[in-house]
Amino acid sequence: MTAAGERLYQANCAVCHGSGGDGDGPGGAGLSPPPANLRWTVRRPVATDGYLMWAISDGGAAIGTGMPAFAGALSEQDRWRIVHYLRTL
Ligand code: HEC
Repeated sequence: MTAAGERLYQANCAVCHGSGGDGDGPGGAGLSPPPANLRWTVRRPVATDGYLMWAISDGGAAIGTGMPAFAGALSEQDRWRIVHYLRTL
C-alpha cells in the first residue's frame, strides 16, 4: 500500500514537492506561493486525511495556487494511496 503510494508520489508530486516532501522540487521554482513542505503540512492539526484528499483532488485553483487538481488524473484509490504515503514522510 505504502509502496504504491510512494511510486505515485514520486511520479506525480516529487517534481514540485521534492522527493522527500520538503517542497524543493525543480518544478516548483518560480511558483508563488511555492509548493508546500509536505513534511510540515502533514504534521499540522488541520491536515486531516480529508483535508489532504481535498487538496490533492481539487488543487489550488480556487485559492490561487499552482497546485494541480488530480481528481481527473488519478483514481480515488490512488489518491488515498498517496495520502497514506504522506503520513510516512
Ligand atoms: C506543479 C507543481 C505541483 C505539483 C505537481 C503538485 N503540487 Fe501540491 N502544491 C503545489 C503548490 C504551489 C501548492 C500551494 C502551496 C501553498 O498553498 O502554500 C501545493 C499544495 C499542496 C498541498 C496543500 C498544502 C497545505 O499546506 O495546505 C498538498 C497536500 C499537496 N500540494 C500535495 C500534493 C500531492 C500529493 C501531489 C501529487 C499528487 C502534488 N501536490 C503535486 C504545487 C504542486
